[in-house]
Amino acid sequence: MSLYWRIFLLNAAVLTVAVLLLLGPVTVSTPILHGEALVLCGGLAAMLAADAVLLRIGLAPLQRLTRAMSSADLLRPGSRPDPAGPGAVAELTVAFNTMLDRLEAERAASSARALSAQEAERSRIAQELHDEIGQTLTAVLLQLKHAADRAPAPLRDDLRQAQETTRASLDEIRRIARRLRPGVLEELGLHSALRALAAEFTLPPLTVHHHIGPGLPALGEAAELVLYRVAQEALTNTARHSGAAEVRLELRGGPDGGVELVVQDDGRGLGRAAEGAGIRGMRERALLVGARLLVGAAPGGGTEIRLHVPATATEESRP
Ligand SMILES: Nc1ncnc2c1ncn2[C@@H]1O[C@H](COP(=O)(O)OP(=O)(O)OP(=O)(O)O)[C@@H](O)[C@H]1O
Ligand SMILES: [Mg+2]
Repeated sequence: MSLYWRIFLLNAAVLTVAVLLLLGPVTVSTPILHGEALVLCGGLAAMLAADAVLLRIGLAPLQRLTRAMSSADLLRPGSRPDPAGPGAVAELTVAFNTMLDRLEAERAASSARALSAQEAERSRIAQELHDEIGQTLTAVLLQLKHAADRAPAPLRDDLRQAQETTRASLDEIRRIARRLRPGVLEELGLHSALRALAAEFTLPPLTVHHHIGPGLPALGEAAELVLYRVAQEALTNTARHSGAAEVRLELRGGPDGGVELVVQDDGRGLGRAAEGAGIRGMRERALLVGARLLVGAAPGGGTEIRLHVPATATEESRP
């Protein structure tokens, strides 16, 4: 039954009861007597209460749909309101679900485009840092060495100092370039890249323990990049926000033949912190390969990031 007829019939029922009561042995004097006024007020209150209850029941499917609409989140896809209820509301729910399907697909496609443009740009900047600034600083380093060898003693110490500063800058540039483009991922694969990441973040007071499970299925290029970037952001967050002493980075087989990444720290936990660009970026990357991301509390009170990459993203499942 349509919402229009449902509400109309509910109101008609209340009004019919009111009229039937008036047709009964009821009299209203002029001016109205105290007792009659009380009965009329009581009747009006009962009618309004019945109307309110019936309307609440009648509009409940619409309220369910409103709640589903206001809590829909394209970064947590898959949850859909049940198209139950009166005809018009069911139709509205089906239309809303179709719109969500379309928006989720468009969101996934535009995220994929944006993230691949971002990776390409990072790669270009890393290349330029390495080729341009890296080469120039290497040349400066050699010239300083040459000058220091021939300089008079009072100047030599200053030149050696300048050499050290240049060498430190060169190391810093190589480190930035490595972070921008996980070259180790392309050259040595995901497992070595994750080990290198764990070593990079092991700086006092933080220790990263890594465990890469044996016999994991080979993953596609996109899935490896997603796992690497999520692990990188999770470790960055641990180092920046958690105050943790220990963090465990684990890559293991998932129950369905996929792969699961777990980053668990013993820090202060997420508390009521709102999700920022970092966690939203993790969610967007997860969507690219149909992975599921859970961000929550670790058993010991810290934070746990769990990324489940399904078997469909593994190399064997490719055509
Ligand atoms: N491991 C963690 N321990 C404690 N709090 C965390 C942890 N990870 C994230 N948070 C909290 O969650 C918030 C959101 O994290 P998110 O990575 O989305 O943003 P951000 O790190 O603040 O900024 P961005 O990543 O964009 O540079 C953080 O500001 C922080 O308060
Ligand atoms: Mg962050």
